Amino acid sequence: MHFQFLFLAFIAAPVLASSYRFNPLEHSAGIAPYFIPHDPPLDSSPPQGCNVTRAAYLVRHAAIYANDFDYETYLEPFVKKLQNTSQNWSSTSTLRFLSNWTAPVTETHLEKLTRVGLQEARSLGISLQKNYVHLKTPTKVWSSTAQRTIKSAQSFISGFTGNHTSSVNLIQVEESKKAGADSLTPYKSCSAYSSSYGSDQSSAFGEVYTKPIIARLNAQAPSFNFTQDDITGMFELCGYETVIRGSSPFCSLNLFTSDEWLGFEYANDLMYFYNTGYGRKLSASLGFPWLNASVAALDDESSAQELYVSFTHRELPPTVITALGLYNNSAYTEANNVNYTMPEDKINYNRAWKSSEILPFLTNIAIERMSCKSYGFDEGVYYRILNNAGPQPLVDCRDGPGGSCTKEQFHNFVKERDELFGDYNKACGSDSDYPSSLSIYTNES
Ligand SMILES: *[C@@H]1O[C@H](CO)[C@@H](O)[C@H](O)[C@H]1NC(C)=O
Ligand SMILES: *[C@@H]1O[C@H](CO)[C@@H](O)[C@H](O)[C@H]1NC(C)=O
Ligand SMILES: *[C@@H]1O[C@H](CO)[C@@H](O)[C@H](O)[C@H]1NC(C)=O
Ligand SMILES: *[C@@H]1O[C@H](CO)[C@@H](O)[C@H](O)[C@H]1NC(C)=O
Ligand SMILES: *[C@@H]1O[C@H](CO)[C@@H](O)[C@H](O)[C@H]1NC(C)=O
Ligand SMILES: *[C@@H]1O[C@H](CO)[C@@H](O)[C@H](O)[C@H]1NC(C)=O
Ligand SMILES: *[C@@H]1O[C@H](CO)[C@@H](O)[C@H](O)[C@H]1NC(C)=O
Ligand SMILES: *[C@@H]1O[C@H](CO)[C@@H](O)[C@H](O)[C@H]1NC(C)=O
Ligand SMILES: *[C@@H]1O[C@H](CO)[C@@H](O)[C@H](O)[C@H]1NC(C)=O
Repeated sequence: MHFQFLFLAFIAAPVLASSYRFNPLEHSAGIAPYFIPHDPPLDSSPPQGCNVTRAAYLVRHAAIYANDFDYETYLEPFVKKLQNTSQNWSSTSTLRFLSNWTAPVTETHLEKLTRVGLQEARSLGISLQKNYVHLKTPTKVWSSTAQRTIKSAQSFISGFTGNHTSSVNLIQVEESKKAGADSLTPYKSCSAYSSSYGSDQSSAFGEVYTKPIIARLNAQAPSFNFTQDDITGMFELCGYETVIRGSSPFCSLNLFTSDEWLGFEYANDLMYFYNTGYGRKLSASLGFPWLNASVAALDDESSAQELYVSFTHRELPPTVITALGLYNNSAYTEANNVNYTMPEDKINYNRAWKSSEILPFLTNIAIERMSCKSYGFDEGVYYRILNNAGPQPLVDCRDGPGGSCTKEQFHNFVKERDELFGDYNKACGSDSDYPSSLSIYTNES
């Protein structure tokens, strides 16, 4: 089918059709290697007449070998089953590679950054240094205390400073329970949060999209008895093996078709939607403290720091996206029934919420404060949000150049969000009174 498509393309519309190439890695959700969307809604360079004067970044750690959960739930059982199967893979069609294939990850590597991951963190440092060459080199960079976030931050700093790392102080922020919202991992202190939210919804759809895959693979390899978890593991291996070895036979579109990849992606989107997105009211309350503290930091003209960069885990960026009201399936509808927008039995292809764009490895959200003197706009201060370098205009605040938001409107927006989502302890149903805001950018310690 692929060849036929190319052949037709050659005759009919060479430019359009040949430029389209489905890339499974850009549909791999939390296991997607870092990528910048090809078609961001708006141009990512600063709008005409605007200079970025300060910026705050929240960055997920770079690519890792595998996390404990994925390894124990999907990868290890699949690999063990492979080692013990009587299935002759040479007699299959799309699974022949399994007779030779060895697992790219063992228990000893879990949660560790891969070489690709380290390189990507370094590259992000190099590219931010280029974009913000007119800003002061940060004297501090923040990271939560896990090894993968610290190492990502260190690589980023090496890239940013051209290996002059001693000029930057890496501040480690405790991932502790009593830190409450005053950490880069506020979900860890929140009793109302559970890491298993979304797994029921995801698993329900998983049953739907894996059914024909299981039937097809079992017809080829009747002795293996593929299960839903095996299929999930195989999809995940495409991403993990790629960030470890550079490529993976599990990414072949002969194994899983592009339509099937969209099924895998949607199952993940359901999970993150209910775990750290619009599917749960709590999400925005977990993301708000970073938003609020970052805006305060950008507004603090007395601070010598002009660029704030903080490293965290995959859970935080989607909650910040939700606190900002971005990638909201219900936006522009005046309705807010979250469940209708993400059915568990079929894909909503036109959804806004796409975890591959929201939380790939090294995903980063930025708030830029700009000074603008742009044709047709008042001279002054404007803010804009970037997600992986793509500008994302706020739903109700884009009265500035390039979809940016005026200072006054932006401050009103943040205040409104504070009223809705600012009560961390209430949202978390905590018995204790944990710190309810983030103070790491103003604390001297
Ligand atoms: C290995 O396969 C055999 C026969 O298929 C089965 O009885 C046994 O339980 C399997 N062992 C493991 C560890 O899965
Ligand atoms: C596996 O299948 C291939 C191709 O059908 C065949 O040549 C080979 O002998 C088989 N191996 C075993 C161990 O049955
Ligand atoms: C298995 O590996 C050998 C040696 O690397 C290679 O020649 C052979 O083509 C591989 N077989 C399959 C089915 O990938
Ligand atoms: C920094 O060090 C890395 C690894 O040692 C090296 O590849 C890179 O070229 C160095 N960068 C600069 C700007 O010296
Ligand atoms: C296949 O796997 C399913 C699910 O784990 C299990 O219930 C069933 O007994 C297995 N069938 C065979 C023939 O091993
Ligand atoms: C998402 O959009 C709906 C419809 O406009 C709105 O009611 C809801 O508040 C938005 N959700 C968030 C968290 O901003
Ligand atoms: C959405 O579904 C969840 C269960 O999946 C349910 O608890 C919640 O009440 C539903 N929300 C709405 C607005 O129907
Ligand atoms: C932006 O920076 C340039 C170069 O430093 C300067 O000439 C210009 O006046 C600045 N514009 C604003 C609006 O600050
Ligand atoms: C948000 O920031 C404002 C001013 O910086 C502060 O008064 C307020 O307590 C903060 N709220 C939260 C929830 O962080």
